[in-house]
Amino acid sequence: MSHDMSNVPSSSEPEMYGLMAEFHDVNTLCAAASKVREAGYRHWDCHTPFPVHGLDDHMGIKFTKLPWIVLFMGLLGLGSAILMQWWMNAYDYPYDISGKPVWSIPANVPVMFELTVLFSAFTAFFAMWIMNGLPRWYNPLLRKERFARATDDRFFISIEAKDGLYNEADTTAFLQGLGADHIESVEEPAERTKLPSNLKGKLIVAACLLFVPPAMVYNSYGKTTTKTRVHLVPDMDMQPRFRAQGASAFFADGRMSRQPVEGTVAQGELNLDTAWHQGKDGADYVQKIPSVVDEAMLDRGRQRFGIYCAPCHGHDGRGQGTVHKRASLLTDQGHAQWVPPTDLSAKRILEQPAGMIYETIAQGRNNMPAYAVQMPVADRWAVVAYTQALGLAQATAGPSEEELNTMTPAQRGEILFKDKTCNACHSIDGSVILGPPLNGRFGKDASLADGTTVLFDDAYVIESIKDPNAKMATGGLPGMVMAPLPTSDEEIADLIEYMKTLK
Ligand code: HEC
Ligand code: HEC
Repeated sequence: MSHDMSNVPSSSEPEMYGLMAEFHDVNTLCAAASKVREAGYRHWDCHTPFPVHGLDDHMGIKFTKLPWIVLFMGLLGLGSAILMQWWMNAYDYPYDISGKPVWSIPANVPVMFELTVLFSAFTAFFAMWIMNGLPRWYNPLLRKERFARATDDRFFISIEAKDGLYNEADTTAFLQGLGADHIESVEEPAERTKLPSNLKGKLIVAACLLFVPPAMVYNSYGKTTTKTRVHLVPDMDMQPRFRAQGASAFFADGRMSRQPVEGTVAQGELNLDTAWHQGKDGADYVQKIPSVVDEAMLDRGRQRFGIYCAPCHGHDGRGQGTVHKRASLLTDQGHAQWVPPTDLSAKRILEQPAGMIYETIAQGRNNMPAYAVQMPVADRWAVVAYTQALGLAQATAGPSEEELNTMTPAQRGEILFKDKTCNACHSIDGSVILGPPLNGRFGKDASLADGTTVLFDDAYVIESIKDPNAKMATGGLPGMVMAPLPTSDEEIADLIEYMKTLK
């Protein structure tokens, strides 16, 4: 064992990185590592030419926390994806796409997967760098000639000066006691914090270039351009082809679209059953759907209607679909012209022959586009059946929720008065049906069967409806009692407002 102490500098010399002790066999190294750990050093390391099994145990290296960090960030990515998609699609900008639900987990899985992987992978990569103290441009140990043998046949322990227990003389003595062949002190090189100068310029250029794409995005944000876009990868954008309605120098009539050769019919297009294929019998529309309408057909119709019609006409067919709502908004802002979709429960549509609705779907009408391409013949008839059923149901259903919301309470009360069948027993013209007439009563006294009177006010009406037997009124047919009717507090409030208007 040779102890070369001549290299240990005095404290006035350059800043110290630490001490480096050289060992010539693995067993001594492992035993020494255990001792260094037991002594309580924290900033130290072993350097070996090959992986030494068990050395991490001697050094007391714990299993990395990285997987937990990655797990946490992965879950964070998953959560962000769910929250982001819910916020965008179901909250901030709910948009009816072919009747699909605005929020459904399966549709969101791809992005959930992507963000989970993205967050975890970035975390694994960058957290590993940070935890290992990287990037680091140099290691002062590499400046020591003897240290080169760490890649060949020698084992090293280095203890850094920044360790709390480090003291040059004591630590040197300590390492000697562990059986080191050679101990050398390691200085910090003066230029240690500097980047290699040739790298600096390149990094500055790269950093500047990073700003170019955001600047370009910012520059074109919200602008339109008439220039054709740059085709870096032309794909099939530029291929010569025939466009519908395009001009052609090749044909004598100058048109690209060709008519079938006269007297020929394309395969599968010999549709002799005009009632089924065109909705027409001769020149007239067929009145009824030319097939049996069963539940399966209506169900298919409902489904297709939800996909192709509801975006404009709304799921209730009243013409209030999301496309309509959005388009109306843009029209109000002066961006566009928009013809509102027809209310399919309108009398005019209910009276239309089935064949005419079929034709509207197949060929479009006025501003409504054709849906022949998207919907085969049987589907069109299914939608006709559903459209008629829906229109009829809506026409008899009374006002829609939206209409109710825009009405005054008294107007709603008038509708409720009929809906709740109050009008079956109470007249509003002073005549007696079963119960007392209810016009001109509000704010006046009502006489009861026991001879007393009570003020006809909110509380009395509420009680009369909720607990009809509490006070028996006179004025109706004798002996008649009112049965309690399920009526909500809001509905009663509307009915009261209505009764106040009855003179
Ligand atoms: C892109 C929006 C849009 C979609 C989708 C749409 N419509 Fe229409 N529809 C309209 C508009 C707009 C009108 C009014 C056209 C006009 O009178 O200019 C209309 C009118 C109609 C009419 C009345 C035609 C008449 O006789 O005046 C029917 C019936 C109808 N649509 C049925 C359907 C059915 C069934 C579907 C689904 C296959 C459908 N629409 C899909 C926009 C749409
Ligand atoms: C089956 C017939 C029947 C129906 C339906 C009915 N009522 Fe009555 N109602 C009566 C009779 C009979 C009386 C008088 C006996 C009593 O007070 O129970 C009465 C009493 C009343 C009174 C007290 C009238 C007074 O002169 O003091 C009010 C208010 C009232 N009904 C409101 C309503 C409202 C609102 C509805 C609808 C939600 C309704 N009723 C539905 C039969 C009916």
